[in-house]
Amino acid sequence: MDFENLIEKEIDEKRQGETLSLATVKNGGKKMYIESYGCQMNFSDSEIVASILSGVGFSTTNDIEKADLVFVNTCSIREKAEQTIKKRLQVYNSIKKKKNPAMVVGVLGCMAERLKEKFLEQEKLVDIVVGPDAYRDLPNLIRQVDDGRKAVNVILSKEETYAEISPVRLGGNGVTAFVSITRGCDNMCTFCVVPFTRGRERSRNPESIVKECQQLLADGFREVTLLGQNVDSYLWHGGGLKKEFKNLSKKEQEESVSFAQLMEMVAKVSPELRIRFSTSNPQDMTDGVLHIMAKYKNICNYIHLPVQSGSNRILKKMNRGYTKEEYLQRIEKIHEILPDCAVSMDMISGFCTETEDDHKDTLDLMDKVTFDFGYMFKYSERPNTPAQRKWKDDVKEEIKQKRLAEIIEKQMAHSLLRNKETIGNTYEVLIEGISKKSTEKLYGRTPQNKVVVFDKKNQKKGTYVKVQIQDCTAATLKGKVI
Ligand code: SAH
Ligand code: F3S
Repeated sequence: MDFENLIEKEIDEKRQGETLSLATVKNGGKKMYIESYGCQMNFSDSEIVASILSGVGFSTTNDIEKADLVFVNTCSIREKAEQTIKKRLQVYNSIKKKKNPAMVVGVLGCMAERLKEKFLEQEKLVDIVVGPDAYRDLPNLIRQVDDGRKAVNVILSKEETYAEISPVRLGGNGVTAFVSITRGCDNMCTFCVVPFTRGRERSRNPESIVKECQQLLADGFREVTLLGQNVDSYLWHGGGLKKEFKNLSKKEQEESVSFAQLMEMVAKVSPELRIRFSTSNPQDMTDGVLHIMAKYKNICNYIHLPVQSGSNRILKKMNRGYTKEEYLQRIEKIHEILPDCAVSMDMISGFCTETEDDHKDTLDLMDKVTFDFGYMFKYSERPNTPAQRKWKDDVKEEIKQKRLAEIIEKQMAHSLLRNKETIGNTYEVLIEGISKKSTEKLYGRTPQNKVVVFDKKNQKKGTYVKVQIQDCTAATLKGKVI
């Protein structure tokens, strides 16, 4: 079996990893077309971009040949992600030449931030380069291009959270939506490019988050995923730039809002609105968050808790801020406070100097946890990250691949095991739509984030049903409505 393809398919379905999304907004004279790659935050950012541009009369189209403006929201996390985007730019180039010579091409997101002006030298076709904190400047930049100049804004901000901008919901199912709560990351994991492309960590004003969730509920949405690179370190203290709670003044401390408090505020919006969040960091996740999850039925019992490795030596080298034992203690605490909570992870194979023994520690950690799901990657060296500057990318490609295959194989077995445990149980499932494989079936997710397929009767998208699980694969549950 081609595990990598299978996993990529699952990422498509479950987290929209490095997948393609076409999105359109329609409201007037000029037309925009936008494609998003990478993390959920990028998909969410594209909705902010659509909102900013709809304010200056841009409608959208899913016909690239008719677009005045074509945007690609890019990802830099691994080299493969950047290669995908370069290939897309070639496709745009040929469309521009053959069908749409007036088309203006803009590059947004992490790759724009990483390559800056270099993008204009490398890709002659590109007219606009805009980093993740500069989207408010888009109307000016587009004007600049209309005047015949190329336009770049890659300034990172310590304040920007686009707090009051109402995202234009693009291409979704009308039931689930992303709501960003923090931007940037201060963690500095040595392999990761995000702190450089998305800048300093800052939290968004909680009132604007609650307002956005209320609006989503009014618009018919029934699930929000609160997004941040490290949601547990969310802290509003009158401002959003990351600070430790202990360093706040007494008044700031009293008025501050932590992630646990924010979750409670959002949970109270309506019992009809489900809450998810991503991503948690093992060293920052507090018991307070777990207790709030236990208190509110509408906060889903699912935690994505990236681990990256099971070797203490490698974790230290990655600057992850926890040991294997501490990670396992977190998992224990999760199961103690939330007995039916599902846990997924991210894992990297072949980080600098990783030995067979380190790899065995990773497999051992997986055996100890039995994750419900995993997103697994080969280490990809990223320019200017601490790891790239300090160490050689010295694990051979074949070894990285072999170790990744072993990790994936184990995870597939564990996913199947965890899914089998659900057989006979009944879950509340939020219906998200018609199954891709059969129009006779609907699909939705359990609170534990497992996709369930069941026969369609007269149930409606966006409503909750109780489903009893009858069968499963490693990726999907099958059940019947009771
Ligand atoms: N905290 C973030 C992590 C973003 S990156 C979040 O919100 O998910 C997502 C995952 O990509 C990481 O957890 C890590 O497993 C993987 N990753 C990041 N940099 C990588 C690299 N250089 N090579 C391989 N995988 C990487
Ligand atoms: Fe990257 Fe680590 Fe932050 S993986 S996004 S630096 S938590």
